[in-house]
Amino acid sequence: MAKDKIKNDNILLIGFMGSGKTSIGLKLSYKLQMAVEDTDKIIEARENTTISDIFATKGEGYFRKLELELLYEIRNSTNRKIYSLGGGTPVQLQNQSIICQCGKVVYLRAKPETIYDRLKGDTTRPLLQCDDPLSRIKDLISKRSFAYERCADFIIDVDDMEQSDIVDRIVEFINVDEVNDENSCN
Ligand code: S3P
Repeated sequence: MAKDKIKNDNILLIGFMGSGKTSIGLKLSYKLQMAVEDTDKIIEARENTTISDIFATKGEGYFRKLELELLYEIRNSTNRKIYSLGGGTPVQLQNQSIICQCGKVVYLRAKPETIYDRLKGDTTRPLLQCDDPLSRIKDLISKRSFAYERCADFIIDVDDMEQSDIVDRIVEFINVDEVNDENSCN
């Protein structure tokens, strides 16, 4: 997506639930010596409860409103940080342009089977609490892929990769991109 109005130079990790955004964010933070934040955790701390509880008591719409407000804050902040975004954040069209204005966007792309293996038995993702989570994952990924790809500056197929290699690929991308930015006339 065009980045004509970047106000900030964060690194944003996007991707489906279980794609590794939180753990890769932490490792990347260590490697780049940059602070890392997880938007779900920020929302949980502010609401003083869990994501599951927010979905159950106030509904998904309320949660999506909090996500959008947080995106505006990230865009308007002058700090440079790594952010792991919730898996559904890039889905709303309105969110996509804001995400792109927040900084460089890395999409951790994973196959439905990989996600299913990683999240089997997980009870913290309200959208996957159903009789057939694999079908739900397949359905959501097929509906969301376009949104993730639209926001992404860089895509990594994470299925068979070690976390350390994923981090190295991101660092390489950020470095190359910064050199390109410096050499750009715009
Ligand atoms: C969601 C993903 C979750 C969390 C919420 C909704 C989604 O974040 O924001 O349960 O819509 O995909 P993770 O991707 O960090 O699990």
